[in-house]
Amino acid sequence: MSKPPSQSWQFRTRAIHVGNEVDPQTGAVVPPVHLASTFQQPGAGKWGQFDYSRSGNPTRSGLQATLASLENGCGALAFSSGMAAIHCVTMLLRSGDHIVAGSDIYGGAYRLLHKICDHAGITVSLVDLTDLAAVAASLRAETKLIWGETIGNPLFSIPDLSALAKMAHQAGCLLAVDNTFGTPALIQPLDFGADIVMHSATKYLGGHSDCLGGTLAVADEELLNRLYFIQNATGAVLDPFSCFLVARGIKTLQVRIAEQCRTARRLAQWLQTHRAVARVLYPGLPEHPQHALATTQFRDFGGMLCFELRGDFAQTARLCESTRLFHLAVSLGAVESLIEQPASMSHASYDVADRIKAGIQDSLIRLSVGLEAFEDLQADLAQAIEASQRYATRPDA
Ligand SMILES: Cc1ncc(COP(=O)(O)O)c(C=O)c1O
Repeated sequence: MSKPPSQSWQFRTRAIHVGNEVDPQTGAVVPPVHLASTFQQPGAGKWGQFDYSRSGNPTRSGLQATLASLENGCGALAFSSGMAAIHCVTMLLRSGDHIVAGSDIYGGAYRLLHKICDHAGITVSLVDLTDLAAVAASLRAETKLIWGETIGNPLFSIPDLSALAKMAHQAGCLLAVDNTFGTPALIQPLDFGADIVMHSATKYLGGHSDCLGGTLAVADEELLNRLYFIQNATGAVLDPFSCFLVARGIKTLQVRIAEQCRTARRLAQWLQTHRAVARVLYPGLPEHPQHALATTQFRDFGGMLCFELRGDFAQTARLCESTRLFHLAVSLGAVESLIEQPASMSHASYDVADRIKAGIQDSLIRLSVGLEAFEDLQADLAQAIEASQRYATRPDA
């Protein structure tokens, strides 16, 4: 019986089989990891499928085929980190160009845009991407890129992707989105008209806190070629062993995410009822300002959530230092749960004025929900919140 065209398979089937074909030489069901840095050529000046590992590598090609399939794109590229992938996108621009970026974005992206791209004469405006009138007002003739996140970080703002894509294309610029929080298990931004979708593969794609990587996927062949040219010219490719780890992580992405969404929703609902919690930010809660939009854009609401403690900077830090199961660490999207204080950790690279203007308060706490049992995570947070409240009454403790 002939196999169906792979793109008609369900997501989780493609995650396992596309790009992971049986090795024709040995029959191995897991393709070998190709460590060779160079490949024998068919003749002088003649080029085979692979020649030099920066330009192309079979293990990386396999991962890129999986990613392209899962993103409904025409192709994908794998980078040495998420930041390298974002940097590649910004290298499409030239001196004098302008970027409109979301005000609710990863601190490292903020730093790249404000403290590296400015050296190349590129200017940046930070705009609340949920405010379409503000986005329209910020577009200029020189605007070449709108950069956002499908789920903003750390405030969980959800931009309307179709509206942004329309606006970008009318203005003659690209829409690129970081889908690290969303994951391709929950949304395919290219289907909403985005030109580029980016991931820190370090997070949900890898899923086990054991490798660093980044990805881009696109729907347009010409754009893919331009990005590939930059990647090959600048060299920030993902190494073969990390390609293997990301490809292995992707095989369980959908089942991990389903469970993480379930636990995150239960924790969000419980935290909402806690007297020491001022507010919970989770797109799955009806109180979330873009909950209705999130329902139309995502298949579920993700494994990340934030809450604001009724307390100051020091109490918030104390809470984060008091958990026993949640590790106090940046990063996210893995099997183990993590906790952090954006003001002093993931978003410390924001200028303080921009951070406060963006609504990232000192009392904000971000959780990355792993695969532990809900009851254990709930008990851990309960005792850590208690510890933060005791700290308030005995500041010298
Ligand atoms: C949303 C988001 N985008 C991009 C990055 C950067 O990715 P990497 O650390 O793999 O360079 C991160 C890292 O934390 C992130 O959280």
